[in-house]
Amino acid sequence: MKPIRKVVIPVAGLGTRVLPATKSIPKELLPIVDRPLIDYVVSEAFEAGIEHVILVTGRGKSAIEDYFDHAVELEAALAAKGKDDILASLRSRQPKAGAISYTRQQAPLGLGHAVNCARALIGDEPFAVSLPDVIIDGAPGALAQMVREYEKTGGNIIAVEEVDPKETGKYGIVAPKSERAGRIFEMSGMVEKPTPETAPSNLAITGRYILQPEIFDQLDKTQRGAGGEIQLTDAMAALMEAQPFFAFEYEGVSHDCGDKLGWLKANVRLSLKNSEFADSFREFLRKQVN
Ligand code: UTP
Repeated sequence: MKPIRKVVIPVAGLGTRVLPATKSIPKELLPIVDRPLIDYVVSEAFEAGIEHVILVTGRGKSAIEDYFDHAVELEAALAAKGKDDILASLRSRQPKAGAISYTRQQAPLGLGHAVNCARALIGDEPFAVSLPDVIIDGAPGALAQMVREYEKTGGNIIAVEEVDPKETGKYGIVAPKSERAGRIFEMSGMVEKPTPETAPSNLAITGRYILQPEIFDQLDKTQRGAGGEIQLTDAMAALMEAQPFFAFEYEGVSHDCGDKLGWLKANVRLSLKNSEFADSFREFLRKQVN
């Protein structure tokens, strides 16, 4: 079985749900406490043993490339001011040279199209896909948990999380093939935004995938679907006819930070875990709700 060495992180979307914040900065650079979204997702990938990160970028997204580059003048200024701790912390976050590649999606035609733009950089091996606006608080990270499962099952794996059964209509929901036992199980399909009455489970798809390279042939054939976009879900559903797909319920909690409320919740949750100011922030929050 080939190992998972690469991850595709699509960052070319327009981020319309968080406008106007994303009018002039990429959604993927919105901060959660003190790090941009993209930093969390790239760190989660390296923690999972990924060697190569492929960012699919687009117009107006070049600040993301700068984020992962050396900031020569800034580093010189920090050194001159004796701010050695900050400098060391910045440098410790610097990825190894060559560990990140960039390719461009020339128009935001959908998640499936964005993933297909990475085809030449992936080649003929299984790979991960992580959506940068989904921040998953888990230890170890969700992708590390998935890679561990993949080493046992092979095939394709979709990360899922339990949601309130009354709210299935907001999510893509997976259908188990048979009675589910444990955190990983084979799927028979997935349904986009089902009503609670028709939902095959309350497990929602949450932005982390392990896929076999045959997904690219399916993406080539996938026509525009919901929202006029080329959907990854449609290509996965087609591949499911030929290959096993597993749903994996990771241990952790996700936040959809591509949505204003989700972004706020992620900031609150992770601020309350920050050793520097968790106590005074908790105190502040208490006063707001009383
Ligand atoms: P989303 O659908 O959450 O992002 O896609 P979006 O399209 O930017 O958001 P809204 O709906 O307009 O608010 C998940 C990820 O896929 C990327 C996005 O950048 C985001 O990180 N994406 C989406 C692409 O790279 N290309 C696309 O055509 C669509």
